[in-house]
Amino acid sequence: MDDRHAAETEAALLRVELTDANYRYYILDSPTLTDAEYDAKLRRLAELEAAHHELVTPDSPTQRVGAAPLSAFENVAHGVPMLSLQNAMNADELRELDDPEGNSFDYVGELKIDGLGVSLTYEDGRFVRGATRGDGSTGEDVSINLRTVRSVPLRLRDGVRAPRRIEVRGEVYLSKQEFVRLNEERERTGEPLFANPRNAAAGSLRQLDSRITARRRLDCVAYTHGVVEGAEFGSQWEYLEWLREAGFLVSSEARRLPDVEAAVAYQQEWVERRHDVPYEIDGVVLKVNAYARQRQLGVVSRSPRWAIAFKLPAEQAETVIKEIEASVGRTGAVTPTAVFETVFLAGTRVSRASLHNQDEIDRKDVRVGDSVVVQKAGDIIPEVVRVVAEKRPDGTVPYRLPAECPACGTALERPEGEAVTRCPNRAGCPAQVQARLEHFVSRGAMDIDGVGEALLAQLVDTGLVRDAADLYALTAVQLAGLERMGRKSAENAVAAITASRRRPLARFVFALGIRHVGETAARVLAESCGTIADLMAAGKEALTAVHEIGETTAEAVASFFADPEQRRLVERLLEAGVEPEPVEAARSETLAGTTWVFTGGLERTTRDGAAEQVRRRGGTVASSVSRKTTYVVVGENPGSKLDQAQRLGAKILTEAEFEDLLAG
Ligand code: IVH
Repeated sequence: MDDRHAAETEAALLRVELTDANYRYYILDSPTLTDAEYDAKLRRLAELEAAHHELVTPDSPTQRVGAAPLSAFENVAHGVPMLSLQNAMNADELRELDDPEGNSFDYVGELKIDGLGVSLTYEDGRFVRGATRGDGSTGEDVSINLRTVRSVPLRLRDGVRAPRRIEVRGEVYLSKQEFVRLNEERERTGEPLFANPRNAAAGSLRQLDSRITARRRLDCVAYTHGVVEGAEFGSQWEYLEWLREAGFLVSSEARRLPDVEAAVAYQQEWVERRHDVPYEIDGVVLKVNAYARQRQLGVVSRSPRWAIAFKLPAEQAETVIKEIEASVGRTGAVTPTAVFETVFLAGTRVSRASLHNQDEIDRKDVRVGDSVVVQKAGDIIPEVVRVVAEKRPDGTVPYRLPAECPACGTALERPEGEAVTRCPNRAGCPAQVQARLEHFVSRGAMDIDGVGEALLAQLVDTGLVRDAADLYALTAVQLAGLERMGRKSAENAVAAITASRRRPLARFVFALGIRHVGETAARVLAESCGTIADLMAAGKEALTAVHEIGETTAEAVASFFADPEQRRLVERLLEAGVEPEPVEAARSETLAGTTWVFTGGLERTTRDGAAEQVRRRGGTVASSVSRKTTYVVVGENPGSKLDQAQRLGAKILTEAEFEDLLAG
């Protein structure tokens, strides 16, 4: 036997041993090799592969250590969109899933782990690609990172029927223990801490350097699928069993539930038991078991009607108020924030919560020194629920917002009947100027990378910048003159500012910081007006007429542009070379003369959305099939319209064919 042949045989054997050891360790949780034995075998395999490069296979256990950094992830289209779940608020909404005719269905209960949805594609049993959820239709190819996750099998276990192609869907997450370990490490190295396990998992999975991901010890539990070719499953439970046999990590808390009442009980059980699992859960998921019944129920606007998520109630903790801070935002509103002893809540460390305004403080009577109960609203935003009255120490005093602006000393105002206290010094208050600039440069607005909070603070302090238009006059020489600013970062900042001159109109409108105009309203305004000039010229009437723009928003926009100071700012921005990209009139006549009917649930869009697409191209949409119907688009579970369409000879399109036709 020659050397190469011997190496090949030994490598194959090692690969089998290591893959199996991995499976026993990560999936079955019953290790057969000691760490030292595993490492020794892995090292030996790596040696063999180094000596004979042609022996390296993509599914070799040596391929889990990470590879050379990428410069960006590529986009990948999912074979079948990744859906999201509707939330149920109470058990009755779950009972609605059940058959109205009284037939009982069985369900599967699963935990809703708070991580990141991923789609893992296997072809003939081998892992070929892994992607993030993205917008549900297209995600990012994070294969090199997913390869480092030990509970993602690189090949399906021998003996299991391997579909020709399957998209296994699951959740990538970080255990609570790993989260704490990671943050402790980051604290030591002076890196910013992750707010919660979910963010840490997301950050790790989107690392361009997969060697870093490999050190993060992510896990992946599998629970559903996208495309399946060359295999059939009859139910969710059968599928979960297949996943287990194929080598995936499947939650051991998944339960088969004989009827809807058992499903309700499963949810109630987990309200009590949420801490019994080593990872963060934010709810339970209940799924109709039989695929036949799932198909009957179908999908509506990207959520299956056969599955529902129950959020668990927010967690609470008790802590002590150390201080109440008053800060000034971009509109001059003064917001009190409670600063308390750090507590661990729903997986994150929290030490601050907004108290909103003086009325809210009065209502709760929150004082410095008080013990308070805090919770996370929707598991995200920390809030003070109540004061623990019996623990109030002697000598506390009711809290009052200051009479003068903490940033500029101007007397604060609180108009009759309003909850908000404001600093009236719009142009001169450094806190307002700074907050407006932070908004202007932020991600959803002009997205000026390299100009962050710290730099803006210096620019405002030194008087170099008073408003957004001043940014565009900055030179690298001026910036390099600031403290802690190198020549290179100065040049980068100027380049980033220059690059922001051309941004879509919607972002520019959002960046202006008009009251009541968030990202969505900004987009609607941009689409309906087309150019900044038309938006500035549109009065309140015209704006109110825009579908989706309410009276309050219309009023705010009109008065913003009626204010000479604000108009001047916009004009100066345009003079400085800012040129928001106009929105092209989106109408065409490509479908003129055609009549359309939609039937069945669409997966990638709503029926309204699809109808709008047709109308924009000059087509007509009807609600029933007639001799005039040109096209019928058939979604899931089509009704009698399909038969009628066939009888009357209309052209029948699937959703995909419809999309192709739109794309021209
Ligand atoms: S099923 C088929 N099952 O929750 C519909 N999702 O909004 C969706 N999630 O994006 C997937 N645990 O990332 C399903 N046991 C579970 C889940 C789960 C967590 C996530 C998933 C999805 C989101 C739903």
